[in-house]
Formats: sequence, structure tokens, C-alpha cells
Amino acid sequence: MQDKILDLLKKKQEYVSGEDISQHLKISRQALWKHIHHLKEAGYNIVAVPHLGYKLVSSPDRLFVSEITSKLHTKFIGKKIYYFDEISSTMDVATDLGLKGAPEGTLVIAEAQTKGRGRLGRGWSSPKYKGIYASFILRPKISPQNAAILTLLTAVGICEAIREITGLEAKIKWPNDIMICDKKLGGILTELSAETDEIRFVVVGIGINVNNNKNSLIPHAVSLKEQKGQSYSRTEILQEILRKIETNYLLLQEKGSRKIIDKWRLHNISLGSRVKVSCQGREVEGQAVDIDIDGGLLVRKDSGLTEKVTSGDVTACR
Ligand code: BTN
Repeated sequence: MQDKILDLLKKKQEYVSGEDISQHLKISRQALWKHIHHLKEAGYNIVAVPHLGYKLVSSPDRLFVSEITSKLHTKFIGKKIYYFDEISSTMDVATDLGLKGAPEGTLVIAEAQTKGRGRLGRGWSSPKYKGIYASFILRPKISPQNAAILTLLTAVGICEAIREITGLEAKIKWPNDIMICDKKLGGILTELSAETDEIRFVVVGIGINVNNNKNSLIPHAVSLKEQKGQSYSRTEILQEILRKIETNYLLLQEKGSRKIIDKWRLHNISLGSRVKVSCQGREVEGQAVDIDIDGGLLVRKDSGLTEKVTSGDVTACR
């Protein structure tokens, strides 16, 4: 009911009389008053003026389900959302939901994570109300060997969304770091639940530093606020990211990997430079020349041989 009241107030952007709201939503004036009270407690600034009614002045910067779904306009991503004020990791909840058969596009959001996970067994710092911590479920009809393309398309979607909303040139460092001016803005964690040759489902987790101040960022990390000197609505950024990821996922289904890889090349900062890739205790050094259709990085070594690396950490060699 609170979502419906908010919808009404948002649409009007002016005072709406208590009588009109009550009649429209078929609730008593007393019930309406209680709902308004709860909304105010949740951080909505709603003013009430005798004879005029209620007006929504501002909404809190919270990733509430009603905020995300309003104006999202996606076909399947975020049609079902699970919201948590604090959770261990959105990956765990999304995996649980995936195992229970949750549909493609199911989204798990948290305002904070106590055990946020990064790649290669690292943690992911997830301070409350500062960043975007979200995981969604995909059920693609591709083989597990080709799953890296999902990480690439997610990275492309994030870069497109960040550019559109902030104008910042977000770039991708292979395989899945989102960078701004050589500092890490965000990351993607892709976890598969698969049989030998069939994906059951994939959980894609995204972490973006949005309104973090310098002191809550680890070294070599940056937030949109730090970079631009202004705060951003996490809701708007998440909505745009979800739209862009969905568009790229549909593009993958329609046209195959090639189109995604072409887009990825446009946004990447790894290709063309000399790199050192640490991968399962080994190091591969050489020139990053391309990525292949599976998303593996092709490194031309000094011997002239080209090696494909499928995971690892890339350091640029100067
Ligand atoms: C990385 O760059 O190492 C990947 C970071 C992924 C972090 C996100 S935050 C939402 C989701 N939940 C997690 O525990 N991790 C991912």
C-alpha cells in the first residue's frame, strides 16, 4: 500500500488531498495516516497541510524496491527484487534463490554487506548506504565454457551507464574491473552453478563505489563522488546499469558474442599494453593483443607465442 501512496504522490508532484488518496486506494483516512507515518520514518519527506493534503518533497537515498522498480522499464531484470538493509553477501542470497528456481532477472540488493566477496578470494568493502551491492540471476542457454561473455557484457553495461549518467569515461580492465583514471570504481563477480556441459544458472554480482568518501575507500580505489565532487542517486545509477545490462544480454541472445566483444574492445584499457597476468601461481608477461570469443585474454609473449589467459590479475608494465 505504501508503494501505491508513493506512486500517487510522485505522479502528482503537488498536494493531494487525504480524501482523494483514501478514496482512490479504498483505505480509511486513519489507515492512510499510519502509512504516511511509516513512510516518513523510512526517510520520505512528506508534508501535510490542512485543507491541501499531502505532498512528497523528497525521497531518501535508499535502494527500496519501490524506488528501483519505478521507471525501471526492463523486460526481465529486476522484475523480482529482494532488498536487505544489511546482509552477509548478496551472492549467497541470490545463489540460494537460484537453487530454489528463482526466475531469470531476480535481483538481490543490500545497503551494506558484512562479508562482501571479491574475485580470487578477496573481500569487497561494502559500507552502508555508500555503494551499490547487487547480484542478479541469469539462466543463459550457453555452455559453461562461454560464461565469461556474461562478465564482459555486464562490464560494458556498467561503463555505458556510468558514462550516460555522470559523463565519466569508465573503462574496463580485463577481465572485470571498472576503472576511472587508473583507479578502481567497481568490480564484477560471476559465479556459475553448472553441470559439465550445461549452465543451471549464473549469479552476477556488481559492486560500485558511488558516494564513498576518500577515507572509506581502499588504496587505488575511487568513487563517483570522489571523482566528480558531487553525490549521485544510487537508485538512478542502478536503474541505468540494469537497463544497459539487459540490453546487452538481449543483444547477446540475438546476435551472439561478436557484438558484445566489439563493444568491450571500445571500453577496454588492457589491449595494446604490455601486461603481466598472475594466474594460478604463474605469471604470463607480454603484449595484450586481443580477447577471443570466450572472453580469454590473448597475450603475445616475447618468444612470439600467443597465450590465452582465462582468469587472473592484470598489471600494466611500464
Ligand atoms: C571484484 O572486483 O573483485 C569483484 C567485486 C564484486 C563485489 C560485488 S558487491 C555485490 C556482490 N556481492 C558480493 O559479495 N560481491 C559482489
